[in-house]
Amino acid sequence: MRKALQGLSPYKVKPEFDMIRLDNNEAFMSLLSSVDLGKLQETLINRYPAESSENLVKAYSKFSGFPANNILAGNGSDELISIIAQYFLNPDDVVVVLEPDFSMYEKNAVIMGAEVNRISLNDDFSLPLEKVLEEIKARKPKLLFLSNPNNPTGQLYSKEEIEELILALRQVEGVLVLDEAYIDFAGESPFAKTVLNYGNLIILRTASKAMGMAALRLGFLIANDQIIEGISCIKPPYNVNTISAQIGAQLLENPNVLDQFLLVQLNQIAELEEMLNEFIRKIVGAKLFPSHTNFFLIKMNDAKALADFLYESKIKIRFFNDETMKAVRISAGTKEEHAKLRAALNEWSEMYAKRI
Ligand SMILES: Cc1ncc(COP(=O)(O)O)c(C=O)c1O
Repeated sequence: MRKALQGLSPYKVKPEFDMIRLDNNEAFMSLLSSVDLGKLQETLINRYPAESSENLVKAYSKFSGFPANNILAGNGSDELISIIAQYFLNPDDVVVVLEPDFSMYEKNAVIMGAEVNRISLNDDFSLPLEKVLEEIKARKPKLLFLSNPNNPTGQLYSKEEIEELILALRQVEGVLVLDEAYIDFAGESPFAKTVLNYGNLIILRTASKAMGMAALRLGFLIANDQIIEGISCIKPPYNVNTISAQIGAQLLENPNVLDQFLLVQLNQIAELEEMLNEFIRKIVGAKLFPSHTNFFLIKMNDAKALADFLYESKIKIRFFNDETMKAVRISAGTKEEHAKLRAALNEWSEMYAKRI
C-alpha cells in the first residue's frame, strides 16, 4: 500500500432497509413509477454504454441549460471528485477544504498524496473569507473544494464570496471545485449562466438529491472547453452504465415530474424545520441552523445520545461527536416518517426535561 493511504478508513454504510433513513440526505421517494420501463427491454446490454451516456448528457444539457459539450457525466459526483483529484494533483500539492464539508474532497486529495489544508468555518458556519483568501495567497493551492450549499451545515455562501475565491485562486493558478449537490433546494445557481467564462471553475451536480436518483449513481461536471478536454483524457470511457443513463435521461426529459417532486420535497423540508424548531426550544443550548438543503443541522451537546435513542426507535440520523463539533444532521422524510420522528423527539425531550 502507498504511504499516503495508510491513515484512510473505509466509508462504511450498513444496508438498513428496515430503518427510517434520515441520515444520508437522500430523497424520500423513488420516481421509478414515472419511468417507462418497457423501453429498457430494448437495451443492448451486450454493448458498451457510449450512446446512452451521450443521450444522458444531452438530456441534462436540455434540463440544466449548460451546453452538452461542457458537461461530463460520472458514476455519481463521487467519481467526478476522484477524477478531478487525479487530473490536477501531484504529490505534495496543496488542497484547501473547509471544515466541516463533504468528506470525499479530503479523502481524494489524500489518495493523490496531496497536502490538505483544512480551514474551519466560523462558529455560525459562515465562510471565513479573509482567512481563506490569505491561505490561497500564502499556500497557492491547486484545488479548493467546497459544497454550496454546504453539507453538513446547510449554509449557502454568496455569489460575491465565491467570486472572490475564484479570482484569488486564478492569481495562483488554482481551481475552484464548486459542488452544487443541493443547489436545487436553494434556487438557481449564481454561476449557472457564467460558469464557462471562468478558466478555473468546475461545477459539480448530482441526480442523487433533489432528483431522487441516488441508486443510479449519476453526477455531472460542468466546466469550460479546456478543462473538459483535459479531464476527458483520463475519464474512464464507459463510466456511466446504460440502465442508469437511460432511466436518468427519461426523468430529465420529463421536467414536470422533477419540478413537482421538488415542490413535494420543499413542503416536507418546511415541515421538518417547524418540527425541529419546536424540538430545540425544549433542549438547553441546542441550536438549529437555517438550511438551503433537504436536511438540517442541530448543534447540541447530547448529539450522540439523541442519535442512539432515535436509532433504537428505528430512525437513523447522522451525528457528529468529536472535538470540533457535536451535532445531529436530519434529512427530510415523508409525512409518515415525520410523524414517527415527531413522536420520538417528543419522547426524548420529555426524558431530557426530567433529567435537568
Ligand atoms: C456535497 C456532496 N457532494 C457530493 C455527494 C455525492 O453525490 P453522488 O451521489 O452524486 O456521488 C454528496 C453526497 O452526500 C454530497 O453531500
